[in-house]
Amino acid sequence: MTTVTLELNGKTVTRSVNARKHLTDFLREDCELTGSHVGCEHGVCGACSVRLNGQVVRGCLTLAAQADGQSVETIEGASDRGDLADLQAEFIKRNAAQCAFCSSGMLLTAAELVAAGKPQTREEIREHMSGNFCRCTGYHAIIDAVEAVNNARLQGASS
Ligand code: FES
Ligand code: FES
Repeated sequence: MTTVTLELNGKTVTRSVNARKHLTDFLREDCELTGSHVGCEHGVCGACSVRLNGQVVRGCLTLAAQADGQSVETIEGASDRGDLADLQAEFIKRNAAQCAFCSSGMLLTAAELVAAGKPQTREEIREHMSGNFCRCTGYHAIIDAVEAVNNARLQGASS
């Protein structure tokens, strides 16, 4: 076991954790934050995505011990801050979340793209989102939602 102290969704959290436990299991089992999911557990599906020091990372490929002294934000923290409100509204409007297993990772990954503040073609959006798998939607609605939010933010910035 090892002791980990991190800033988690803006609050300092200290836990004793198995040194081999990955970050997503730590968040779900030790911190009661179940918004990030465990799918493939080998870095392929993106369901485990969280922010580590502001960058989206695979929680299943990051040890909880590696987050010691770092800042972690989960979908819960990003949602509470309102960071994702327009993306979440657009996902709901376009039925881009069905079972929602992929949605936390999709939203955090999409948020990275729209935060860049530049025009994106559908191909660029597809490429950016391609590390996140969805078993339900067929992806079109997700790409539509991300494209709509990116365009709306760009329009908002220029008006
Ligand atoms: Fe981490 Fe699939 S569970 S990438
Ligand atoms: Fe079910 Fe994406 S909405 S996996």
